[in-house]
Amino acid sequence: QAASIPADRVPDMGKRQLMNLILLGAVSLPTGFMLVPYAAFFVPAGGRGAGDGTIAKDAIGNDIIAAEWLKTHGPGDRTLTQGLKGDPTYLVVEKDRTLATYGINAVCTHLGCVVPWNQAEKKFICPCHGSQYNEQGRVVRGPAPLSLALAHADVDDGKVVFVPWVETDFRTGEAPWWA
Ligand code: FES
Repeated sequence: QAASIPADRVPDMGKRQLMNLILLGAVSLPTGFMLVPYAAFFVPAGGRGAGDGTIAKDAIGNDIIAAEWLKTHGPGDRTLTQGLKGDPTYLVVEKDRTLATYGINAVCTHLGCVVPWNQAEKKFICPCHGSQYNEQGRVVRGPAPLSLALAHADVDDGKVVFVPWVETDFRTGEAPWWA
């Protein structure tokens, strides 16, 4: 009997809870809205972190515009550009005239010569000691011990952006040795 709440007080408590709720909402809603952009400022855009990317540069150091590049580079083209950390990196045009989503680092995994693309052989052939890589940069003849490193080739705001490749090497199914 003593623990029971007098019937006439119940509506009051209900009202008070409602008032508290409204008050809380009035305070936290605007705060919440202000916090969203504030928090977003610290979260890097893009799933992989676009902040790690580097805009690809052509031979004379200009940013590479994807649409412009495709006007002058046909299917199967592999042309050297300046990639991550300034590494010479092949930008690849697929057979359907789109840019490949990967770039191929041209630094030979044997002793570091820059490996030229041989269009006739459809291979990258190192002039230093004869290592060979297939058209995706997978090693097919030594002495090079490993395939050429990969980078993601994204298009951001029309420009080609290289982003570090930290996922499985799609050519070998192995973990990326360069990451
Ligand atoms: Fe390329 Fe030796 S540096 S084969």
